[in-house]
Amino acid sequence: GESTIRGPLSFQPIAPVDAAKDALTVPPGYEWTPIIRWGDPLFHNSPAFDPEHPNAEAQELQFGYNNDYLDIMVTDRAGREALLVCNHEYTNRDIMFPPTDNEAQELEVIRTLMAAHGFAVVELRRRGKGKPWKYVRGGEKNRRITAYSLFSLTGPAAGTDLLKTAADPSGKKVYGTVNNCAGGTTPWGTVLSGEENFNGYFKADPAVPENARYGLTGSSVYGFEKVDPRFDATNPDYVNEPHRFGYIVEIDPMDPTSTPRKHTAMGRMKHEGANVRVDDDGTVVAYMGDDERFDYLYKFVAKKKYRKGDSAAARRHNLTLLTEGDLYVARFSGQQKPDNANLGRGVWIPLTQNGKSMVPDMSIEEVLVFTRLAADKMKATPMDRPEDVEPNPRTGKVYVACTNNSQRGTDGKPGTDAPNPRPQNKNGHIIEITEHKNAANATTFDWNLFLVCGDPEESGTYFGGWDGPVAPISSPDNVAFDSAGNLWISTDGAPSGIGKSDALYRVPVQGRERGHLVQFLAVPSGAETCGPVIHDLDGSVFVAVQHPGEDGSWEEQQSFFPDYVPEGSRPDRGDWRGPRPSVVQVTRA
Ligand code: FEO
Ligand code: CA
Ligand code: CA
Ligand code: CA
Repeated sequence: GESTIRGPLSFQPIAPVDAAKDALTVPPGYEWTPIIRWGDPLFHNSPAFDPEHPNAEAQELQFGYNNDYLDIMVTDRAGREALLVCNHEYTNRDIMFPPTDNEAQELEVIRTLMAAHGFAVVELRRRGKGKPWKYVRGGEKNRRITAYSLFSLTGPAAGTDLLKTAADPSGKKVYGTVNNCAGGTTPWGTVLSGEENFNGYFKADPAVPENARYGLTGSSVYGFEKVDPRFDATNPDYVNEPHRFGYIVEIDPMDPTSTPRKHTAMGRMKHEGANVRVDDDGTVVAYMGDDERFDYLYKFVAKKKYRKGDSAAARRHNLTLLTEGDLYVARFSGQQKPDNANLGRGVWIPLTQNGKSMVPDMSIEEVLVFTRLAADKMKATPMDRPEDVEPNPRTGKVYVACTNNSQRGTDGKPGTDAPNPRPQNKNGHIIEITEHKNAANATTFDWNLFLVCGDPEESGTYFGGWDGPVAPISSPDNVAFDSAGNLWISTDGAPSGIGKSDALYRVPVQGRERGHLVQFLAVPSGAETCGPVIHDLDGSVFVAVQHPGEDGSWEEQQSFFPDYVPEGSRPDRGDWRGPRPSVVQVTRA
């Protein structure tokens, strides 16, 4: 086995875990506890969790479903108070609530699903550093944002005809956010997140090329249109409603009365998330992936510079940073090297600049609302599903998780190339980008493959040049850094890639140990590892355990995480023992 990893968060790496194991596995000497679970009451007037009786009003006052992006923001000097901010990407109706033939009951289920989407902001407290956190019911900053909440649209496309509907002739006000996936916390204390697979929430006309390019079809996955007509974009009043989703959203967790925003300047796509880098001179950029097979990597360069400090004036200024700027898409060139140690150059191709479109025959609002079509025209490089894209705060280098792409090199699809070197890429890879002169707003960059994932015994895998033992890994998704700049990777899809549980890994990106990948934890069956948040100096790691037991049914649940209630032991809650997506902390035992 692996020897102990040294550092403030020293641990003995764990071995890969059988994908069927319904347990959260942590290193010896560590323990895990849920901080908050789906349905936990956030406010004094929140009803108790009761999945037997789905109720939208109750759900609006409770923690939502399928937590993905996560941050734990410590808010006091003693380290005893924090804000937990996370999003709630989507719902799994069949394991959440009982099946029903009663139409009125099913409509209430759908309203409850809408209320289980969005965000949660929750106050946390603990007795001192290194101790486990507990959430504060009724905390002043506690908040739920749902598929019903009011958002404002910002940027050049806001208020234009493409964003107007019968219900919103201003084109600037949208109700709700859906399918928020990864995200990032900004240096000014807000949280960004991407509206990813928003297409699944609409009925729309797929004969419209712009709809087809975004995967909109004649039927929705979630049925929201049955309770709210604007999700039916075949209705002439709402043809533009899908144009109002697919953005980077920004929420201010410090101000529970603030209106969350959708930033059109950052383009519309299946946004995975966004992570900001502030350069030494205050230049602000955000890196973003469009998670679809053969879609693109983007960079946004804000027009204005970051203002330091947390005065009210600086905060007000910084809250405007993502409303104006230039949007770029990446084009890669490079070489195939032995062992897939590929490298090359890249160009950031401008789609908008100084408030103007750089794309022939498209206006700036068309570029920002139909960003995929603009990037197609400009010959961006089709990637293997770019997920989380995050700059290393220690070095400025950017890490792009390309999760997998079963269609690479198949009939009629793009073939392999240097940055996407494997046909039917089952296990994904991570690209390392160095901006020219390490300037955040550079228009060219160098890149190299950092990890080509899979079982290390398989040919074609590559681990940053490290040739000692490493853990098998598949389908990198969310990434994060610890205080020393080591990369932490959580995965989504490992069971179908390497036949093991999804997990959380740590890998140094510099020095002698570069590429030495080890495993820290594994999530229960059916779950994806989200978050993650690494407070190594505080001896703790946080993960959002998403969609445990997702392939089960109400009657035949496949996960009992996190409570593992024995059958028949909870008469107060019927026989329901099913899984509850939860935010979990891992601390020293
Ligand atoms: Fe929601 Fe791209 O993962
Ligand atoms: Ca993801
Ligand atoms: Ca991340
Ligand atoms: Ca994923």
